[in-house]
Amino acid sequence: MRYDVSVIGLGRIGLPLALSFADHGLSVLGVDSDQERLGAIRERRMPFKEPGTDELIARVELGTSTRAADAAEARAIVLTLGTPALSHIEIDIRDIRTVLDDLLPHLREGHLLVLRSTVAPGTTEFVAGYLEKHRGFRVGEDIFVAHVPERIAADKFMEEISSLPCIVGGIGEASGERAAQLFEPLGAPIVQTTPVQAELAKIWTNILRYATFALPNLLMMDCERYGANVFDVIELINRDYPRGGIKMPGLTAGTCLRKDFAFSEERSSAPGMLLAVSRVHETVPLFLVDGVKRRLGGSLREKRIAVLGLAFKSDTDDERDSLSHKLIRLLERELADVAVHDPVVATPTSSFDEAVAGAEVVIVATNHSAYSTPESLRAIAEQAPDALIVDPWNALGTAQVFAYVAEVAALRA
Ligand SMILES: NC(=O)c1ccc[n+]([C@@H]2O[C@H](COP(=O)([O-])OP(=O)(O)OC[C@H]3O[C@@H](n4cnc5c(N)ncnc54)[C@H](O)[C@@H]3O)[C@@H](O)[C@H]2O)c1
Repeated sequence: MRYDVSVIGLGRIGLPLALSFADHGLSVLGVDSDQERLGAIRERRMPFKEPGTDELIARVELGTSTRAADAAEARAIVLTLGTPALSHIEIDIRDIRTVLDDLLPHLREGHLLVLRSTVAPGTTEFVAGYLEKHRGFRVGEDIFVAHVPERIAADKFMEEISSLPCIVGGIGEASGERAAQLFEPLGAPIVQTTPVQAELAKIWTNILRYATFALPNLLMMDCERYGANVFDVIELINRDYPRGGIKMPGLTAGTCLRKDFAFSEERSSAPGMLLAVSRVHETVPLFLVDGVKRRLGGSLREKRIAVLGLAFKSDTDDERDSLSHKLIRLLERELADVAVHDPVVATPTSSFDEAVAGAEVVIVATNHSAYSTPESLRAIAEQAPDALIVDPWNALGTAQVFAYVAEVAALRA
């Protein structure tokens, strides 16, 4: 075998993983069908922001290929392909099936195939069955299949790859052992379980976060209805309360949280609860737009509105499935004049001053740390003194979701 491991899908999860394997002395082949992405990698440039990886890509050796079949030149093959949800509330495993079909004729006895992508319960068994059906392998005896889900958050990869417990769900003991051997050099504790338990643990890690953030968002909408301040109510709930607390509201989304609940919901015995969680989050942009409309006399036509932040969460350059885009679309459908600023994403945006100067409304859509400074709030107050500030995160420290500049206590201090 020419390589110890190949990683198919050099995206936000696959590329840092491939670089980490190489950093721990494994010979690695990285495979991606996107020529542009591979071009950047061959020039040792990261195609996206992930702290700590610029140094790694400049230093470690990584073989590259566009052909999934080449991955069979490694003893272990790790799939880090995208697994979106179809609008049918069902996992979309087309990329996985395409790659499996490319790999099938090249798989040999002794190969280990690891599913690192997030998948619906039962998908690892499906992959094993697919190999048995089309190639006659006995999975767990002459070829090995495991699910080793990725639970690392974007922007924290290098921090968490060596510390976050690595869940290994092998088809049979031998698959689990081989998968553990592959990931052991990365340094995280290995936890062995069954494939379906590994699948459930991953998707429910995300479901827990998605549901947890729905509660403060629902509370924010309730507070608007009752004329209450959500940040005051959260402080009342959490202060010195010894049994956990409620999180802060915000535009909760991103490619993983928005879709992974669907992998449970596709077969749920109590369908509906997680759909309701999703509906709460998906309603937040409209809630903000309606709140602005009410305060501005009903129409946003030709109103100058600054939207701060395009990324789905603070300090990442990942815009996929960000609710900022939905917010902007809704504002544009109200015929507002929208200017956007984001200091982190690759998409070109206006400067902070250009976006904010003379704005009638300023909406903080992403809680980037660049906005969470007294200077940002002061800059808005100076350049848009009559603006309505909308900040569901309380990133600026206005301590209200909707507040005119003149009403912000922090500016009087
Ligand atoms: N992004 C995250 O923070 C995160 C965290 C945990 C788990 N996950 C899961 O990890 C998986 C990958 O997510 P991601 O964000 O890295 O996705 P991504 O879209 O960034 O990366 C997928 C890569 O696969 C490549 N690809 C697609 N089809 C291919 C093919 N036929 N052959 C070779 N390459 C192909 C694409 O070009 C892309 O570079 C998903 O299942 C996701 O749910 C993601």
